[in-house]
Order: sequence, then structure tokens, then C-alpha cells
Amino acid sequence: MKTKIAVLASGRGSNFLALLEKSQEAGAKFEIGLLISDKEEAGALQTARTEGIPARLIRPADFDDKAAHEREMVRVIEEHGCHLVCLAGYMRLLSPVFLAQWAKDVINIHPSLLPAFPGLDAQKQALDYGVKYSGCTVHYVDEGMDTGKIIDQRVVPVLEDDSVESLAKRILAEEHKLYPQVVNNYRRRK
Ligand code: GRF
Repeated sequence: MKTKIAVLASGRGSNFLALLEKSQEAGAKFEIGLLISDKEEAGALQTARTEGIPARLIRPADFDDKAAHEREMVRVIEEHGCHLVCLAGYMRLLSPVFLAQWAKDVINIHPSLLPAFPGLDAQKQALDYGVKYSGCTVHYVDEGMDTGKIIDQRVVPVLEDDSVESLAKRILAEEHKLYPQVVNNYRRRK
């Protein structure tokens, strides 16, 4: 039985697209059951609608507080029968309300070799520090900022003349391979 995943995305949605394409390959072990976004203008939301993937816009502003917003997301994820939640450029921290109610795994992809350079602008942080290698990390999500246990990583070189854009592009190309691979190999809890 395929793993049914829910993807949470706030932006461009290139990782969502990479997951979608992998899920459509022959022999894929997962399918995308739901895309949730907190932003109407998110590219991921448009892609899901175009591709006929169930998509929901669930905005914090439409709820009394963060807990109510997260409870609604959990409700919709369960309604769609998903087994795994994948954050893909979801720009909010999940609180214990979400993480306790959703008893299964939540994973994220981050554009650095964690635990180095968590949070925003990871590629700029790497360049500013002068590291010679960076990369991307898929990790479990906890309440912290990119602090959960690491599942897998890919390394990319940082070149002498890199800009934030050129480094981000090189890392993103690896993200698009790593994330679908991790999700495809994910072992369902039930
Ligand atoms: C990616 O770099 C991802 O690692 C980070 O946010 C970015 C999302 O990009 N968490 P996209 O929306 O998937 O194109």
C-alpha cells in the first residue's frame, strides 16, 4: 500500500513539484493525498490545483489563534487519510498542538547541513561563514527551528565565486533529488 503524504508549503513549491513528479513515476511507493498552504499566492497551491491534487488554503488569519489553525490542519490531514506530513518551504513553526495531535511523523527539508545554519537565509549564512561545503538536510520536525533528528543529507561544494543565488540553485537541485528519495523510502508506521 502506498504511503499517502500531506505536503505543507508556503511558497514557490519546487520541492512539492519534485515530490509530485516522483510520486507519478512507475513503482513509486507514495502518493500525494493533500497540499495545504497558508498563502493564497503560493506556487505550490497553484500547481496542486492544476494537477488535480486535493488542495486547501488554511490561513492563520481565519482562526482565533495558532492552536485553532493547527487543529484544523490536523483535522483536514486526517480526513484525507494521510500517513506522513512533509513540510516543503512551510514558513511557520509547528507547535506542540499540531505535533501532539498528529501522532505520526512530520519531516522537513532544509537548505544547509544541519545543525549548521538553521532558520532563514541558510545559504547566505553558509556563504558568510566561508564554509567550503554546504548541502541539504531532511529531518524530523520538532518544536524547534530545524532541530529535529536528521534522516539524510546531501553535500554540495561552495565555489569561490558563488553568490547566494548560485549556491541556492546548486543546493536546490540536490533537494529535488533527496526529498523524493527519502519520502519514497519512508517506512509507514501503520
Ligand atoms: C527550500 O530551499 C527548502 O529547503 C526550504 O524552503 C525552500 C522551499 O523552496 N525549507 P520551494 O518552495 O520548495 O521551491
